[in-house]
Amino acid sequence: MTVVRLGNDILRQKALPVEEITDEIRELSREMLVTMEEADGVGLAAPQIGKSIRMFVVKADDGVERTFINPQIIATSNELVGYEEGCLSIPKYYEDVIRPEKITIQARNEKGRRFTLEADGFLARVIQHEYDHLEGVLFIDRIDPAKKAKIEQKFLDKAGEE
Ligand code: NI
Repeated sequence: MTVVRLGNDILRQKALPVEEITDEIRELSREMLVTMEEADGVGLAAPQIGKSIRMFVVKADDGVERTFINPQIIATSNELVGYEEGCLSIPKYYEDVIRPEKITIQARNEKGRRFTLEADGFLARVIQHEYDHLEGVLFIDRIDPAKKAKIEQKFLDKAGEE
């Protein structure tokens, strides 16, 4: 699977709910995990592989592969923390992003089972970054606007070369 890059409109669309968790969705989840790991990523959202549906996969520092389908973040901590983020769709750029330290998320897994997860630290960070992708939001939207503009310009320039 090819990961789309900054400049592709699909990254800016609000993704649609997954209507039914079929074998096709399960296969997509497996392929996304493979693509993510091959790219040395810790999370990958469906819009990044060109599918505008509400689904992402994560493998954070606990090493557990997790699939989130139709997720909802139902609680966030008041405590905020900064951490350097990157994105497979914006390769080679890393910036500090401030987000809640803890979250509670509800979703279905690839088997269709509903679950609730309380996460903090790095896992909470990765989940929030991936969740943003379903809303058409990228981490550069959460940094200094001047830095964001520079990064966007770099990718526009590159697209022109291809
Ligand atoms: Ni990303």
